[in-house]
Amino acid sequence: MTVELKQKIVVLSSIEEMKKVSASFCDQTIGLVPTMGYLHKGHMSLIKNSVQTCDQTIVSIFVNPKQFSSNEDFDIYPHDLSGDLEKLESSGVGALFYPDKEAIYPEGFKTNIEVATITNKLCGISRPNLFKGVATIIIKLFNIIRPQHAFFGEKDWQQLAVIETLTKDLNMDVQIHRVPLMREADGLAISSRNSNLSPKDRVKALCLSKSLDFAKQKIKQGMVSSAELRRHIKNIISSESGTQIDYISICDPENLEEKKDVKGRTLIALAVKFGPTRLIDNCIVEG
Ligand code: PAF
Repeated sequence: MTVELKQKIVVLSSIEEMKKVSASFCDQTIGLVPTMGYLHKGHMSLIKNSVQTCDQTIVSIFVNPKQFSSNEDFDIYPHDLSGDLEKLESSGVGALFYPDKEAIYPEGFKTNIEVATITNKLCGISRPNLFKGVATIIIKLFNIIRPQHAFFGEKDWQQLAVIETLTKDLNMDVQIHRVPLMREADGLAISSRNSNLSPKDRVKALCLSKSLDFAKQKIKQGMVSSAELRRHIKNIISSESGTQIDYISICDPENLEEKKDVKGRTLIALAVKFGPTRLIDNCIVEG
């Protein structure tokens, strides 16, 4: 199915048609912005980067079932196709790839792509299907759309590390671009999942950015012990009732190995549940 909208953007749900449109871009550079929809300022910043870098920008919207486990939020993941189309209208995007589950994973689909070690940490511990699902869909999207450039947000730091490893290991000719995390005015990292927060949890969720800011301040004042920093972060998050900490990681930004001390470039990454909604946040510090 191809829907030609009144504006320039073309919506394609068929893999074959998507391939044809990509092929028709011939010698133009293609930038891909893979998303699960419910587009927000963070996505728009990925799109802006792609539009500035590439001749053609293609956005994909696909809520990838393979990257969710059965106890996760696949069923309540927010959707708003017409809102997304409105946002894409004047964004410079040439085509939207919007396949359904049956097109991407037809009966008999058997392949999983797995990246070792960096996936066994942080989000990979509590979300065992996440990175297998992400790696598999990203390879599929790259094969269908054939972009030379792809754009991902640093909010999902570990996802970016997995995708960078994957493309390097498999010699894929796609340049991965990192785009900085974006925050709401009050500091909350922008995420589609924020829309699932109750008003009370939306306020409580500010403890994530507050705890990162506090850690940054402590590091500036000379604190280096990860254990001490972790204790401060934990206290700030736990002071909000009902929060459930998944992890507080103070680690190497490349291999994601935990660090005993904050020396050199260090990633502080958090995952916390507020009711049914699990949020992540991170920052880079220089010890
Ligand atoms: O970050 C996301 O929205 C998803 O994990 C991605 C990269 C689109 C793969 O489904």
